[in-house]
Amino acid sequence: MATSPISLASVHVPLSRYLHEDQEELITPECKDLMSSLSRGKGWVLIHLYQYQGFWHTTRQLQGVLACQKMFQAQATDLILVSTPKSGTTWLKAMAFAIVNRNRYFCYDDHHPLLTNNPHELVPFLELKLYVDNNVPDFTNFVHPRLFSTHIPHISLPESIKDLKCKIVYLCRNPKDTLVSLWHFTNKLRPKTLEPLQIEEAFERFCGGVSLYGPFWDHVLGYWKESLQRPQSILFLKYEDIRDAPKVHLRKLAEFLGYPFSLEEEKEGVVEELLKLCSFDNLSNLEVNKVGKLSSGEECSSFFRKGEVGDWTHYLTSEMIEQLDMITTKMFKGSGLEF
Ligand code: A3P
Repeated sequence: MATSPISLASVHVPLSRYLHEDQEELITPECKDLMSSLSRGKGWVLIHLYQYQGFWHTTRQLQGVLACQKMFQAQATDLILVSTPKSGTTWLKAMAFAIVNRNRYFCYDDHHPLLTNNPHELVPFLELKLYVDNNVPDFTNFVHPRLFSTHIPHISLPESIKDLKCKIVYLCRNPKDTLVSLWHFTNKLRPKTLEPLQIEEAFERFCGGVSLYGPFWDHVLGYWKESLQRPQSILFLKYEDIRDAPKVHLRKLAEFLGYPFSLEEEKEGVVEELLKLCSFDNLSNLEVNKVGKLSSGEECSSFFRKGEVGDWTHYLTSEMIEQLDMITTKMFKGSGLEF
């Protein structure tokens, strides 16, 4: 559809087949070989995570990362949305898609693709969709500029993205809300045969860096440092900042992506309309996001929970807050980054 008009539903292995670790037949010999040499940590959805190039991955994720590294050939005009999991990726995808495609799909349009498609289907993940499960994507029908997304840490990005200096929008969120959102999300995906993960365990693992694409702080720092060196190639955004000043950030995003709003559009209220289209209230109440499923098996509704800043106050104890703040202060010391 739209940016990536291909359907991968038929080649996708249902999520349920990954819910046990006897997934031997799904893992390539190359990945298996590598896994045997990697550190193993406790998982969130499944039992284990594997540490590759300093970051923690599920088996499926790892295989997708390896496939991207080996096969993905970027084009200089590609636009890449990168985020830490649960930082508002769904929101960013919706906004970027709506901005880039607004001449094809007017934001007031009753037939706008965002009204009938989850943003993850419109802006596909490289490692979790396009290259997942040994899939070889066909890019022939992609509309240019191609919009992709990924959670891959900077160090593990496919070389062509770095070499061609593709524009990257990076989104992160304060670690306390990220942790709470990740905890809720992973419990939704956890097989019924496993006990739900308690917040205390999630907290321990997150603080120890053993979380999906974690350590969280290293992920953020990797892109933060790059954004300081190459601000023309990497736009660094925080969820909270967008919530605070949505119009300012939507304009910034549009400008960075190469699709600034014209004076006429400003006068017509396109910025406001586009924000409304992509808002939590609008997207989370659409039929597709209430009852639909992604082709990879996740329920669309699992990507919309509360969409608030500061929900961590309801879940973390004062000791947890203190410890997490201490880690964040220590890890970001001298970087200029604050949450
Ligand atoms: P909460 O769990 O705190 O509610 P991701 O998209 O990276 O998976 O992140 C999911 C988080 O972003 C969830 O946070 C979700 O509710 C929130 N979210 C999803 N769509 C949003 C939107 N349009 N606006 C603001 N927040 C949104």
